[in-house]
Order: sequence, then C-alpha cells, then structure tokens
Amino acid sequence: MSDHLTVVTHPLVQHKLTLMRDHNASTAKFRQLLREISQLLAYEITRELDLTTKRIETPLTEMDAPVLDGKKLALISILRAGNGLLDGVLELIPGARVGFVGLYRDPKSLQAVEYYFKVPDALEDRLVIAVDPMLATGNSSVAAIDKLKEAGARNIRFMCLLAAPEGVARMKDAHPDVRIVTAALDSHLNEKGYIVPGLGDAGDRMFGTK
Ligand code: URA
Repeated sequence: MSDHLTVVTHPLVQHKLTLMRDHNASTAKFRQLLREISQLLAYEITRELDLTTKRIETPLTEMDAPVLDGKKLALISILRAGNGLLDGVLELIPGARVGFVGLYRDPKSLQAVEYYFKVPDALEDRLVIAVDPMLATGNSSVAAIDKLKEAGARNIRFMCLLAAPEGVARMKDAHPDVRIVTAALDSHLNEKGYIVPGLGDAGDRMFGTK
C-alpha cells in the first residue's frame, strides 16, 4: 500500500467482493453488490474533501455547521462498465456533476480506442473521480485520464473494484498524481488481459451480455 494505491480492506467490502467474484452470482445480484461496494469505496475516496461552515438553525439554536467546500465534484464514468460504479456513488453524492468517456479495448492490441467524450465544465476547479471497475492493463484508464487532463482536470482520483499489479504500475508511471482506490489488488493478468483471479468481464456480468 502506498499514497498512490489504497486497498479498502473493510470487511463489508471484502465480503461483498467475494460474492461478486463467484461465477454463480446472478446479474441482478452482481449489480446490487457493485452499487453497495461503490458507496463504500466512495466513502474512502472522498475522505479528505474540504469542508467549510454554514450558519444554520437547528430546532434548539444557531450553529456553524460543516458543509462541503468548493465546486461540486465531477464523477466520470469510463464506459460502459464504469456506469455500474457511477450509480451507487451518485446516490451518495447526488449533487455531483457527471461525465462519460467512451473507450473500448481493441481485442488484439488491448489498446484503448475513444468513441465518446462528454464532461462537465470547469474541470480544473473540481475534484474529478474517474470510475471503472477493472484496472487491468491500465491502457483504457490511462487514456481516459490523459483526456481528462487535456480537458483541464488537475485533481483526479481513480476508483475501481479490482486492480492488477500491471495496471497499477502503468497508472503510476503515466499519472503518478492520480490516487487509486480499489477493493482488491489481484495477482496478475492472463494472456487475454483478464484480471486473475478476478471476476470475469465486469460489463458482461453487470449487464447480462456475453
Ligand atoms: N476488464 C474486465 O471486465 N475484466 C477483466 O478481468 C479485465 C478487464
């Protein structure tokens, strides 16, 4: 563990992740668990958000109460699997702005190819949290973060469910300033670029495709 990588070892996260990894988990169960874990990861990734105070009246008295400071944060879903994490985080932070980066992995080269990019304005003034369940080769995540930086983002964090050592190293090399928060750091990638032991194709498992 380092400043660059945080593995959320909370027992609830680890238990839910095991249920998700099981190949018998239904699509509905997988989606529900992903939503629940995303909220626990969001709790960790937003731990150091800046606070200010606001004068309010409780039923008993006035007080200066803490509220989030600065511009609303931006959640960026790396399509399509990112949407599974996005939904849960949005429930927790409903005021967040939302963007999408569409990338697919070329099955031969494993390189990321962009097909969609739409993000909130003033990215330079926001905490930007990019979400994608699987940090595998790191190619698509690094490419997405390249694009976010080109669009002005300066304060970026990356949330995933599973990370492979290869992806973590690639991200650290390309974007040492981007902190990764994950539920687990797995063993390695197989020859097809899948995380082992992993959970298979996250998009297919959450959307019931093949
Ligand atoms: N993407 C996935 O969905 N699963 C992996 O194991 C690797 C990349």
